[in-house]
Amino acid sequence: MSQQKPLSGPEMDRAASVLRAGGLVAFPTETVYGLGADARNVNAVARVFAVKGRPTDHPLIVHLGDARQLAAWAHDVPLSAWRLAEAFWPGPLTLILPRLADVPDAVTGGLDTVALRVPGHPMALALLAAFGDGVAAPSANRYGRVSPTSAGDVAEELGQAVDLILDGGRCEVGIESTILDMSCDPPRLLRPGPVTASALQRVLGRPLAQTVDKDVRAPGRKPSHYAPRARVILASSDNVAQQVQAWREQDKRVGVLAPRRPADLPDDVIWLRFTGSVREQAHALYSRLREADHLGLQVLVAAMPEERELGHALCDRLRRAAGLGEGGDPMVQSRQISRSNT
Ligand code: TXA
Ligand code: MG
Repeated sequence: MSQQKPLSGPEMDRAASVLRAGGLVAFPTETVYGLGADARNVNAVARVFAVKGRPTDHPLIVHLGDARQLAAWAHDVPLSAWRLAEAFWPGPLTLILPRLADVPDAVTGGLDTVALRVPGHPMALALLAAFGDGVAAPSANRYGRVSPTSAGDVAEELGQAVDLILDGGRCEVGIESTILDMSCDPPRLLRPGPVTASALQRVLGRPLAQTVDKDVRAPGRKPSHYAPRARVILASSDNVAQQVQAWREQDKRVGVLAPRRPADLPDDVIWLRFTGSVREQAHALYSRLREADHLGLQVLVAAMPEERELGHALCDRLRRAAGLGEGGDPMVQSRQISRSNT
């Protein structure tokens, strides 16, 4: 494994040839780093699952260099999907579409749909252009863990298991793409993200479906995801102090993730800065969760942001980091509460 920056033309050709030879290349996108493999090479795709420790029926996103390549992966692409592609690509939006028959099952987990996106990072686009076809890439972290937002994070997560790590600096957006299922009518939001529901609805000219998919393979249906080692406790801004107190009494090493340092915070409690706009918070989220690990925190009390626009995606990731899954599934919540009592 080697790390490098910046990339010249010949170096990008080398990265593309690693992919062509069935190797794994970790690369930056505007959202998080991806662990890339040739999407048409089933052995290379199998290596991605092995390295991540991810169940093989969880499908991967195929990354494309150009929206026109959609037609090489999906059929019956509705006009509305082309419109969304035009409005948001390159960018943090993934579209689920009916897949063509030659798309490997290894990529789609045997589903009859495929996830596609053109990422908005110059290095990702250069890699995809040099490679010339689809690159299957999940986030470059071990299954269930915090997504990497720097090349150093990837090395920490996957180290020698990757053939090449391309260093494109810290990811600008910092949380994963919005996933929209366009294989149903009306389209359905599967993962909230940087492209908000209202922005999608503006382009589509109609509301998204409200139904929730119970398939655990759909994004983030696994209730615990994006999780640091510390136990994450969600709090409203006015009960952070109370939560901190309760966990300190249990002799836990406690940290706080909040926009401001709470007044009268005891000296042994670490404040992880979560300042600025929601956009800045999204950018910082995963590096703060990693910091919590590096500091050996056992409990992280997180103040929930306002749940609107990009805040919706931020709350979704924090809920999963807390093991609460979508919208705080009451079953899972009661399990977590009972665990907290033991
Ligand atoms: O921002 C992102 O989307 C990043 C960067 C690297 O592009 N990728 C990413 O990949 O987050 P991953 O594998 O960590 O998450 C992709 C999600 C998975 O939860 C998977 O279940 C879902 O996309 N997915 C993929 N194909 C699908 C399909 N055909 N139907 C439903 N969900 C699908
Ligand atoms: Mg992931």
